[in-house]
Amino acid sequence: MNTLFMHCRPGFEGEVCSEIAEHAARLGVAGYAKAKPQSACAEFVCNDAEGAAQLMRELRFEQLIFPRQWARGSFVELPETDRVGVLLEHLADYPVCGSLWLEVMDTNDGKELSTFCRKFEVPLRKALSKAGRLEESASKPRLLLTFVSGRRVFVGLAPANNSAMWPMGIPRLKFPREAPSRSTLKLEEAWHHFIPRDQWDERLSGDMTGVDLGAAPGGWTYQLVRRGMLVTAIDNGPMAESLMDTGLVQHLMADGFTYKPKQMVDWMVCDIVEKPARSAALLETWLGEGLCREAVVNLKLPMKQRYAEVRRLLERIEEGFKARKVKVSIGCKQLYHDREEVTCHLRRLDLKPR
Ligand SMILES: C[S@@+](CC[C@H](N)C(=O)[O-])C[C@H]1O[C@@H](n2cnc3c(N)ncnc32)[C@H](O)[C@@H]1O
Repeated sequence: MNTLFMHCRPGFEGEVCSEIAEHAARLGVAGYAKAKPQSACAEFVCNDAEGAAQLMRELRFEQLIFPRQWARGSFVELPETDRVGVLLEHLADYPVCGSLWLEVMDTNDGKELSTFCRKFEVPLRKALSKAGRLEESASKPRLLLTFVSGRRVFVGLAPANNSAMWPMGIPRLKFPREAPSRSTLKLEEAWHHFIPRDQWDERLSGDMTGVDLGAAPGGWTYQLVRRGMLVTAIDNGPMAESLMDTGLVQHLMADGFTYKPKQMVDWMVCDIVEKPARSAALLETWLGEGLCREAVVNLKLPMKQRYAEVRRLLERIEEGFKARKVKVSIGCKQLYHDREEVTCHLRRLDLKPR
């Protein structure tokens, strides 16, 4: 159980390795990170048997930027027949689990394996329940079986409240037919990730105001309008008529990097393709000057040293808030709908509730 196994977007294995190695060094967990390019996964192999458990105890999954899912455990080779029997034998050393997810990598090979997983899940679930290894409960660890082939599986554990919300960290969001662009799903996923569901009514409520910088054609504005908010959409490009017809949107042809609202708004969102340092500076201005309470902004990633660059920008934003003496929570994640980018969520913590 000395390995921490992580899923990620294909091509970001190096970022996961850098990120987890940095945390492990800070926490004094000895080991090494490894990954194959484009494999959509990475491992941190700990020197001590307890290392992976310590990492999971001391890190909050939602605060990791590049991993989409994680589990601690080890690889098991499976025979062609009686895979269930071999797994049951291996699981004798594991605690009784509260849920079971079968996962594959986000690659073409992984997609092919998912058919096998769907078929295999039924008999496996039955056998685990019968053997007393699986008792549905949110407080017991989740059993995560990641198949890298039909013959090799990572048998891992993760706390249900400290791991991905969805299998493989991939949300099943339905594209709303009325939305003007597919990027609408990016903002919806950001809300799922950064805002606990039981706070949506309070923090994404109908009497709020929002500004969408780089709004056209309106996928993000659509999400704000869907929550009933009054939105100022900033873009030289045209907004979808269906959104303008709601009467909730004011469209201004202005520069998103110089526009400032006359009064504080509840939300600022920004999806402008720009140098990440410029988008980060925008966040510092909006939250630092109290132009908004919360913000979701995309940071486009550079070609190289992507983890180091994101860390550097986040540290710079944090220092900016310290210098201004304002309290802001900062979250950053490469969401499933993000490509060469990460999504940041910031919230002023020192303002009176509305
Ligand atoms: C990726 S698109 C936004 C898509 C939008 N979030 C959606 O869901 O439909 C980026 C937009 O930013 C706009 N843009 C680029 N630079 C801008 C600037 N300086 N100020 C305002 N808008 C800008 C572009 O015109 C473009 O419409």
